[in-house]
Amino acid sequence: MNAQHVSTGAGTGLHRNPTVALGRPKKEIVVRRLKAGDLPAVEAHLLALESSGRHSRFHALLGDDAIRGYIGRIDFERMILTGAFDEETGRLVGLAEAHLDAATSPLRAEVSVSVLASHRGHGIGRLLTAVALDDAAARGTRRADFYFQIGNRAVARLVRDLGAPIATAPGFASLALPLGTPSLH
Ligand SMILES: CC(C)(COP(=O)(O)OP(=O)(O)OC[C@H]1O[C@@H](n2cnc3c(N)ncnc32)[C@H](O)[C@@H]1OP(=O)(O)O)[C@@H](O)C(=O)NCCC(=O)NCCS
Repeated sequence: MNAQHVSTGAGTGLHRNPTVALGRPKKEIVVRRLKAGDLPAVEAHLLALESSGRHSRFHALLGDDAIRGYIGRIDFERMILTGAFDEETGRLVGLAEAHLDAATSPLRAEVSVSVLASHRGHGIGRLLTAVALDDAAARGTRRADFYFQIGNRAVARLVRDLGAPIATAPGFASLALPLGTPSLH
């Protein structure tokens, strides 16, 4: 696959969201599938999350070394990484990680999304999630699981519109989304 193109259920290539306005002038965000050569950018992205964002993403207070260890264990056979780049700076400002669970049939994926604090609230998380879900479905995934802390209002709003019920347990919420349906975006 051409590294500059994402294969999605919609059959589209590079995803652009020209509506993202981060100050003036408007900045364009480009979303694409990531590959091994992008891992330094992925590491920089996760290290740049503020401590509460890091906690929300990993459900634990991971230190920098733990983040680097996580990056070292990334296996592209079992993960689909989707990135949102600020086209002007080239910085990876958003990341969706779909962890494929090879032990389950039909295939399931646990999906996590993170956006740098400086870029939140502009639709990047929503766009990333839609592209990541399309990509996972195209890879044969039939269920996407999201886990998040109760009180994480941003991700709760984001997944609320995906159409599956949100289940709650003490402190945690989850959503199991059937995939394989027409494009989500
Ligand atoms: C969750 C996260 C990825 C959302 O990214 P984002 O780019 O800000 O998301 P969007 O701009 O697409 O917004 C999604 C929805 O959340 C809402 N939202 C964003 N920030 C919010 C906040 N602080 N409080 C309440 N709602 C918020 C938006 O209004 C939007 O809902 P709407 O379309 O109904 O208005 C981002 O907040 C983040 O990285 N948080 C830290 C990591 C994390 O919690 N990841 C999720 C668990 S894996």
